[in-house]
Amino acid sequence: MSGPLLLGRRRFLAVTGGLGVGLVAGCAAGPGPRTTAVGAGSAAVAELERARRAAGQQAVDVRLAAVTGQVDLGGRAVSTWTYGGELPGPEIRVRRGDLLRVELRNDLPQPTTVHWHGLALRNDMDGVPGLTQPEIAAGAGFGYEFTVPDAGTYWFHPHVGTQLDRGLYAPLIVEDPDEPGGYDEELVVVFDDWLDGTGRDPDRVLADLLAVGMGGMDMGGMAMPRSELLGGDAGDVMYPFFLANGRTAEAARSHRTRPGRRIRLRLINAGGDTAFRVGVPGTPMTITHTDGFPVVPTQAEAVLLGMGERVDSMIDMPDVAVPLIGLAEGKDGITQVLLQPGQGPAPDVTTAAVALAARPATLVNDIPAAESVTLPGREPDVVHDMVLGGPEPGYTWTINGETYDPGRGLPVRAAQRVRLRFENTTTMFHPMHVHGHTFQMRTAAGVGPRKDTAVVLPGQAVEVDFDADNPGQWLTHCHNVYHGEAGMMTVVSYVEQVAVPTTVRPGVPR
Ligand code: C2O
Ligand code: CU
Repeated sequence: MSGPLLLGRRRFLAVTGGLGVGLVAGCAAGPGPRTTAVGAGSAAVAELERARRAAGQQAVDVRLAAVTGQVDLGGRAVSTWTYGGELPGPEIRVRRGDLLRVELRNDLPQPTTVHWHGLALRNDMDGVPGLTQPEIAAGAGFGYEFTVPDAGTYWFHPHVGTQLDRGLYAPLIVEDPDEPGGYDEELVVVFDDWLDGTGRDPDRVLADLLAVGMGGMDMGGMAMPRSELLGGDAGDVMYPFFLANGRTAEAARSHRTRPGRRIRLRLINAGGDTAFRVGVPGTPMTITHTDGFPVVPTQAEAVLLGMGERVDSMIDMPDVAVPLIGLAEGKDGITQVLLQPGQGPAPDVTTAAVALAARPATLVNDIPAAESVTLPGREPDVVHDMVLGGPEPGYTWTINGETYDPGRGLPVRAAQRVRLRFENTTTMFHPMHVHGHTFQMRTAAGVGPRKDTAVVLPGQAVEVDFDADNPGQWLTHCHNVYHGEAGMMTVVSYVEQVAVPTTVRPGVPR
C-alpha cells in the first residue's frame, strides 16, 4: 500500500539522523538570505536550558516503564499498553522551576517516545521522533531531563503512531509555590475513548481508515456521529467504551469528600478522536485555567474539552453524591467519577447525563486570559496561514494542502511575535496543538485565553499569537491522533541566517 502515511514515514526516516540540524528551510533557491533550521541539538537550545537552571533548583527523579499487560476497565479486563500497568499512568507532580528527570524504559513491542504535552521545555526533550530525538527502540531506554518552566495541568503520552490511543497517558501536574490556592482539595480526572483490546487496536483502526477512507470502517451500520456544539462531524471512530480515570460509567471511581468542600478539578482529555462535554449537573463550576494558564474566572454549567485540552475549574461540593460527568460529544457515550460526600446512594448516571446535555456548554476559546499571563500587545512580525483540509482523497488530512514533512516547516525567527491562522475548510473540528509554546487566542472582543491546544470548528478561522522565545523544531498538529497520522501535522521551525563567509574580490573597492 502506498498511502500518504507511508510516504510521510519514508521522508520522516530520511532526516532522523540529523535531528533537524542543518535542514535548509525558507527559500534557499530564491533571492534573499539563506536560512538554516535551528535544530534540537543546537547551541541555542542548550544555552536557554542552562539559563533556566536556577541555583538551588530541586531535582525530581521518576522511573517510568511503558509496558504491555491487562487493565481492568471495571468488570472488563483488556490487554493494552500502559505506563507501569496503571490506567491512567502514574501522575507526575513537580513544582514550577524543578528539574524533572524521567528514566523511561520501553518494554513495548514497538519503538516509542514520551511527549510532555503543553510544556515549553527544551526542544531536545520534546519527544518527537525524527524531529527532536531518535525513536527509543523496543527494549531500550531514554533519560528525559529538563527544567519545568510553567505551573499548570499538563499530561504526557507517546508521539509514535497511534500509541496515545492505547493506555499510554498520565497527568503531569506542575504546582506553583506562589499560587493563592483558595480550595480545599484537588481531583485530577482524565477522560478517554477506549477500544484497545476489544477486538481492534488503534493500529488496525488507522489501517482501515487509510485503506477504506472515511465511514468505510466498521461503524456498526450507524451514521457518522454529529454534534451541534462541534458544528459538524463529532469523530471518525466508534468506541465501545468511554473512561474517566480508567473506568467506565458503570464501574466509576468514587472520590470521597465532604459537603461544602471546594474542589479544584483538573480535567484532561486524553482521547484519540472524542471531545468531552464535562460538568456536574446542578452544580455550576468556575473555570479558572485553560491548558495550565489562568483565565478570568468564568462560571459554566458544562465545558467542552477537545483532545489534548485541559481545563481547571472549582466546584463547591453539595450535601449529596453527584456525578462528575463526561459526555462523549456527539457519540452517545457517558463516563463519570462519583463525588461522594457521605454514604448516600449514587444518583442515576443516565438521568444526570440527560440533565447535563440540556444545559449550555462553554467553549473556552472566548474566555479572556488572566491579566498576569496576557501577552503584551504587539503586531505580529510574521503570520502563517494554516489551511486545514481533508479527508479526501481516501483518508488524507492536510495543512496547506500537504501532508506532514518534517523538513518543510513554517519558518519563524527568535524574538518574533508569531501569528498562526488556522482555517478549517473541513466538516469536522480539529484541536490544533503547538508544541513548546503557550499561545494566546484572539477573539472578536480582543484577548482570549492562553492555550497550547485550540479547537477549530468547521468553517471557522482561529488566530493565535505567541512569542518565539523557545528555539528549536516544534511539531504543530491536529490532536485527533488519526488525523495527525494521516498527515495533519507540520513544524513551527526556528530558522537563522546562514553565515556566508565574506569573500573579498581583488580590485573591487569595499
Ligand atoms: Cu499531545 Cu504532539 O501532542
Ligand atoms: Cu483533526
